[in-house]
Amino acid sequence: MPTSVLIVCLGNICRSPMGEAVLKEVAKQRGLDVSVQSAGTAGYHVGEEPDERLVRYLNRTVATCKKHNIPINHEAQQVGREDFRTFDYILGSDANNVRDLERLKPKDAKATVALWGSFDDGRPIADPYYGGIDGFERCYQQCVRYSNAFLDQAFGEAQ
Ligand code: 4NP
Repeated sequence: MPTSVLIVCLGNICRSPMGEAVLKEVAKQRGLDVSVQSAGTAGYHVGEEPDERLVRYLNRTVATCKKHNIPINHEAQQVGREDFRTFDYILGSDANNVRDLERLKPKDAKATVALWGSFDDGRPIADPYYGGIDGFERCYQQCVRYSNAFLDQAFGEAQ
């Protein structure tokens, strides 16, 4: 069975779809058996039909991944209680995500819930939703770094 990881942010439009795509690609390049999905703590973009602003942001996420040759194919979904029973790791992009995840987590959860950046420098991923296009590139760089740091710890540095 592959190690399963759910990358989480607020809207599942910017940080976590990019994180999903980057972690998949980094794991593939390192030859590690990892299955990755992403979700938002908020439910307001599920299923899509997003407004123009959201399409613009999702397009930027996709454009940034394409620029770096990272395949991405995304449809927004919301974190549910069942996810805590199925995933090995549920990784939040910022402290608010982790707090919301801890609130939602059922008693019989098997997932390890953590801040994604806690495997590296302990920082949150800054939300590019509130800034310009530069924020997407910074988000991408953090996703690469945190993907490697997470895989180092989950699989050992030799892998
Ligand atoms: P994300 O960014 O959590 O990185 O996907 C956001 C996307 C949408 C909203 C906020 C943050 N929003 O308020 O719609």
